[in-house]
Amino acid sequence: MLILGIETSCDETSVAVVEDGVRVLSNVISSSKAAFERLAGVIPEQAARKQIECIIPVLNDAMTQATVSWNTIDAIAVTKGPGLLGSLLVGTATARALASVHAKPLIGVHHTLGHLVSTWLEHGMIVTDRSAVPGLPEFPFMTLSVSGGHTDLWVRTSAVSGTLVGRTRDDAAGEAFDKGASMLGLPYPGGPSVAKAAEHGDEKRFPFPLPLHGEDTLDFSCSGLKTALRYLLRDQGVTDPAAMPDQLRADIAASFQYGICRHLLDRVTRALEKHPNMKELHIVGGVSANSRLRAMAAELLPHIRVRVPSTLAYCTDNAAMIASAGFFLLQQDPDTARSAFATTASLSLEESLLSR
Ligand code: KG4
Ligand code: ZN
Repeated sequence: MLILGIETSCDETSVAVVEDGVRVLSNVISSSKAAFERLAGVIPEQAARKQIECIIPVLNDAMTQATVSWNTIDAIAVTKGPGLLGSLLVGTATARALASVHAKPLIGVHHTLGHLVSTWLEHGMIVTDRSAVPGLPEFPFMTLSVSGGHTDLWVRTSAVSGTLVGRTRDDAAGEAFDKGASMLGLPYPGGPSVAKAAEHGDEKRFPFPLPLHGEDTLDFSCSGLKTALRYLLRDQGVTDPAAMPDQLRADIAASFQYGICRHLLDRVTRALEKHPNMKELHIVGGVSANSRLRAMAAELLPHIRVRVPSTLAYCTDNAAMIASAGFFLLQQDPDTARSAFATTASLSLEESLLSR
């Protein structure tokens, strides 16, 4: 079954063609991130205008690269929310028009569900040996979903069902990277720029607190790390982050990155103790691209198979994961494609599973 996926929830415009939820025939992504590099985040109106301009060329590229024609596409899946409303509307309006013109079923997909199935794409990758894994994941398994908008821990019982067992109480992990980067005078998006600055830094030089350690909860909290960063910069006498010595910036970035990764994995360790029957741990979402997080997961969790998306493009926002989610929703309930859906800026987390 071939599904065409469309994702426009933030500053990316992406269209993909995916076969049977796993095989990616094309995944074209156009991003306006560079336009926001000097700012601490995205300007929604500007992002949506760019998306209007590029959605059709991106669609055409995705169809050409996949070498498919409309009569071979079985259904269209599109991100219905959450995200920036203007951006989402570009995707859903395009998808509705295409579905109507080509008489295809249309599936509205929660953005988070896309991330949750991203380890199915090309079977994902095992962090310890970077190998591809033959076959699909075995249930039940745990997913740490870490992006700019959420930090969630799920116990998964199928591709599109599971239980949310932990979530952030304040900032999402990606948001902490983004805000930390801005405090360090590094460009948006913060995750990649903190990671790059950290490459030659000493991550043990400045110890950060370990939030919620010892508490009987599987929740996360990153805001204390951000506050600790603010105090650290003050104590180091940094008034202008742009003028900070490179080595100091590298050491602080490395220590901050280590603090976030240690917190995420500390909570996961506790969660795996509470749920000892988990067959694997999956890490998905933009922050799963972080190589220090991957290395630390392999090191700190040697007793469980840790799977991440097979390429960095499937960690951050992309349409292949939306097409894959559409496939699994259809498999679970063929009526999915008949249900009407609204385009919504905010959509509850629990709705991401079994969503209509
Ligand atoms: O999943 P995603 O592309 O969009 C959302 O759904 O939010 O995640 C974007 C987030 C941003 O906060 C970005 O800073 C973070 O993922 N990110 C990273 C890395 N690449 C992207 N964080 C840490 N290390 C990275 N290499
Ligand atoms: Zn995302």
